[in-house]
Amino acid sequence: MTYHASVRLALLVLAVILVLSFSGAPLIGEWSIDVGTLFFLAAFAVVVLGLERRYFKSMRKLTADIATLHADHDDTVRQLEGIVYLYATLQPQLPLPPFNKATIKPDFAERLVGELISREAPVVLELGSGISTAIAGLTLKKVGAGQILSYDHEDKYAGLTNRLLAQHKVQDVARVTHAPLKARRVGDKDWDWYDIDVSSLPMIDVLLVDGPPRWVHELARYPALPLLWDKLKPGAMIYLDDGKREDEREIARRWEVEYPSLERVPFPSRSGVIAFRKT
Ligand SMILES: C[S@@+](CC[C@H](N)C(=O)[O-])C[C@H]1O[C@@H](n2cnc3c(N)ncnc32)[C@H](O)[C@@H]1O
Repeated sequence: MTYHASVRLALLVLAVILVLSFSGAPLIGEWSIDVGTLFFLAAFAVVVLGLERRYFKSMRKLTADIATLHADHDDTVRQLEGIVYLYATLQPQLPLPPFNKATIKPDFAERLVGELISREAPVVLELGSGISTAIAGLTLKKVGAGQILSYDHEDKYAGLTNRLLAQHKVQDVARVTHAPLKARRVGDKDWDWYDIDVSSLPMIDVLLVDGPPRWVHELARYPALPLLWDKLKPGAMIYLDDGKREDEREIARRWEVEYPSLERVPFPSRSGVIAFRKT
């Protein structure tokens, strides 16, 4: 008998005793129950009920913790698979920098590499440079066609990523330009967004939206689509990173409403990337 069932049975017996006592009926033969014993049994029942509640509360928490551990484990395995895929496919001459909270996740990097391999001489436009720029550069170098144009609002990170691209000898296909944030008009509002001359950009096959950071202001990445929409080829893919955050979810919702030809592409991942195709 389970703990739960035993507690229920004990409570049932107590209830029967209580009812019989109040009715004045003898319980077993001539044996009946006095008031003191009755109160003791009632107090005992209250204690047992309290213990039962605490027990089941901690069991529920334990079950939830175990489920989280399983999900964490599965995700760790998935990310390791992503890293193995990257090294096996790209075979970089130097180790890649470590993935961290600021970077894209390995499973997304894997998806990106597959996407670029499947396209003919793709043009990638990236907002927010880093390891993602190097991975795209290595892929394009490997397939021998295409380019990635990356923009970073921070001079320091533009410089660091350009150095990374040089170390991996992919500067001919990948380049980061420092583009400080400046007021850009979108709709009836000014947004701090990259100082990019959009009219001079080539048509884009893949757009990676991983900046500006959210501390700039609310919905900081929203202007990417309104400002670059006309530069996206039909069939272009748009990846919005950090889609687990409410800010990015709201951006995705707005884009979907404002661009009916935008189709959400499923990408089941704990990294939270939100993927769209311009149809
Ligand atoms: C989300 S990060 C971009 C990450 C990039 N796409 C990658 O996968 O590595 C957005 C901005 O943070 C800055 N940044 C880059 N690497 C960083 C780091 N390791 N720590 C903090 N900020 C970083 C850069 O200015 C970048 O444009």
